[in-house]
Amino acid sequence: MGYSSICLFIFFALFLGHVFVKLEASQHVYRTLQTCQSFSSSITSQPYRTGYHFQPPSSWMNDPNGPMIYKGIYHFFYQYKLWDTVVWGHSTSTDMVNWTPHDAAIYPSQPFDANSCWSGSVTILPGGNPAVLYTGIDAGNKQVQNLAVPKNLSDPYLKEWIKPPENPLMVPADQIDPGSFRDPTTAWIGPDKIWRVIIGSKINDTGLAILYRSKDFVNWTKAEQSLYSTNQSGMWECPDFFPVSTKSPKGVDTSVIGPNIKHVLKVSLSNYQQDYYTIGTYNITTDTYIAEEGSFDDNSGLRYDYGKFYGSKTFFDSAKNRRILWGWINESSTRSDNLKKGWAGLQATPRNLWLDKSGRQLMQWPISEIEKLRGNQVKWPAKLLERGSMVGITGITAAQADVEISFQTTAFEKAEVLDSIWTNPQFLCPFGLLVLASNGLQEYTAVFFRIFKGQDRHIVLMCSDQSRSSINDDNDKTSYGAFLDLDPVHEKLSIRSLIDRSIVESFGGGGKACITARIYPTLAIHDKAHLYAFNNGTEKVNITSLRAWSMKKAQIN
Ligand SMILES: *[C@@H]1O[C@H](CO)[C@@H](O)[C@H](O)[C@H]1NC(C)=O
Ligand SMILES: *[C@@H]1O[C@H](CO)[C@@H](O)[C@H](O)[C@H]1NC(C)=O
Ligand SMILES: *[C@@H]1O[C@H](CO)[C@@H](O)[C@H](O)[C@H]1NC(C)=O
Ligand SMILES: *[C@@H]1O[C@H](CO)[C@@H](O)[C@H](O)[C@H]1NC(C)=O
Ligand SMILES: *[C@@H]1O[C@H](CO)[C@@H](O)[C@H](O)[C@H]1NC(C)=O
Ligand SMILES: *[C@@H]1O[C@H](CO)[C@@H](O)[C@H](O)[C@H]1NC(C)=O
Ligand SMILES: *[C@@H]1O[C@H](CO)[C@@H](O)[C@H](O)[C@H]1NC(C)=O
Ligand SMILES: *[C@@H]1O[C@H](CO)[C@@H](O)[C@H](O)[C@H]1NC(C)=O
Repeated sequence: MGYSSICLFIFFALFLGHVFVKLEASQHVYRTLQTCQSFSSSITSQPYRTGYHFQPPSSWMNDPNGPMIYKGIYHFFYQYKLWDTVVWGHSTSTDMVNWTPHDAAIYPSQPFDANSCWSGSVTILPGGNPAVLYTGIDAGNKQVQNLAVPKNLSDPYLKEWIKPPENPLMVPADQIDPGSFRDPTTAWIGPDKIWRVIIGSKINDTGLAILYRSKDFVNWTKAEQSLYSTNQSGMWECPDFFPVSTKSPKGVDTSVIGPNIKHVLKVSLSNYQQDYYTIGTYNITTDTYIAEEGSFDDNSGLRYDYGKFYGSKTFFDSAKNRRILWGWINESSTRSDNLKKGWAGLQATPRNLWLDKSGRQLMQWPISEIEKLRGNQVKWPAKLLERGSMVGITGITAAQADVEISFQTTAFEKAEVLDSIWTNPQFLCPFGLLVLASNGLQEYTAVFFRIFKGQDRHIVLMCSDQSRSSINDDNDKTSYGAFLDLDPVHEKLSIRSLIDRSIVESFGGGGKACITARIYPTLAIHDKAHLYAFNNGTEKVNITSLRAWSMKKAQIN
């Protein structure tokens, strides 16, 4: 938060016509409009504007809000910044690839949300009607939870929302700081016909998922005990709590409990700006969630994504029986560069999410619909990559592509022992992909594997190294790494990278680890970007399969 400018302000004004009027912006806006207009029209031709990742026409976006399917239409809402307030931007789709924009769905209009409409979730009530619970920043700048319901249930686009007079439904109570009480989840209902919802919070430095209960979805009572808390984890934002099947990769609806079900609690740790999750068991009689042994509930735990990915939220897609994950991808550029390009923030490709067979972690994979955008294909037969070699993957648009590559190596005896104090992946580059690479390699981003010898097994590290991604040094070029829970002797080492101009979203081991990078090449743009497979290790590596596609542009907003 804390981001605004006159130019961005005007883009909002243009886009959110009626909200603009309701908020009574000053004439000042019109005076500065002219200077920004030319700038606005050039946005879509910018090299960093993506081709198939969700983004609004301009301005600042962050958290995904209230994703759902209603009457066969996918809805996506998002935190959309309007000078000093935030509204719910709104788009709809039939495939989650191409999106039609609508006016803001929820915007400040009442004392209980006068200063912004922050994040929240949709619950599909029995009978199929959606209800939004969201955080309002009220006239006194307190965070409160409000309800909004569709005005016209016959309208599949749900363009208008009304806020019942009972609002606010939940206000900060007991020791809860009014500035640390936000982001209601999708609610779930028990066999006792009682609704439950959790709200992100903290007391001192203990992060909390405060539990509320209700019989009617309107009158909510705070439970004495939080659903879960972790000492010294700081503020919990955007919690998400949902069941996963232990028997099938299919998704299950949010209220499902019983055998063959585990639960996932995800929190966005504000102190670390990362989304962490635990897998555990939920007892609806006692309303307690117990994270499994070995499932760490602090910042040493499992993450959805080891790169840029925050404030995420899932929903159950009842049309295809799957659970879909949405997450915000922040910029890595400076505030002034963000202002110059006129927009900031993207959404990751919607991902199908399920429990791995091991039960130890979640798996993620881009929704299959995204494959509709695949154009030209390149396919290689198995190929040996000599030590220190690099092979160009040509015949596709390297700046906007989908690449799947698998490796096999047998030289395990020579693997290095993992140094426990090793923290910097920067210089360790054995084999993988070089994406968004310039002629002469002044710029490239390396997405790669490295294998180490562990105590009694091999350890696979997947990395995304941004240190050479741009010759512009103003950007955040942190390199990211994740350990992959797989046995490289018997399983293939695969990477899928969705490359989209300024995003590289990589999935290792079929979805066991994800790393999303934001990069801003200055040379490796448009048709000057190249893609390579490389082996910088001391041993030969086989590429067992490679398929890569040019990606077409989606119709987004
Ligand atoms: C509700 O939406 C339907 C479908 O779009 C439309 O035909 C109808 O006129 C709308 N009703 C009102 C009261 O706006
Ligand atoms: C929070 O910290 C304050 C000041 O250190 C202390 O008085 C209070 O008891 C703490 N609250 C809880 C719930 O631990
Ligand atoms: C709200 O629910 C609580 C707990 O069930 C109940 O005690 C209270 O009377 C209800 N209030 C209203 C206004 O219905
Ligand atoms: C968390 O903090 C509370 C209060 O400071 C303490 O009583 C409790 O033992 C701590 N829990 C853990 C798991 O450290
Ligand atoms: C939930 O807790 C209750 C009360 O402790 C217990 O009787 C019940 O067996 C538990 N349910 C499950 C599924 O573990
Ligand atoms: C998002 O990126 C900006 C820099 O562009 C940074 O200041 C901010 O802390 C980031 N926020 C999160 C949640 O990652
Ligand atoms: C590469 O594949 C060939 C043919 O399957 C095999 O003979 C060779 O051992 C493999 N080399 C490595 C380094 O895995
Ligand atoms: C490969 O290794 C050499 C020597 O260590 C290093 O200079 C080069 O940057 C590495 N290449 C990649 C792509 O990491």
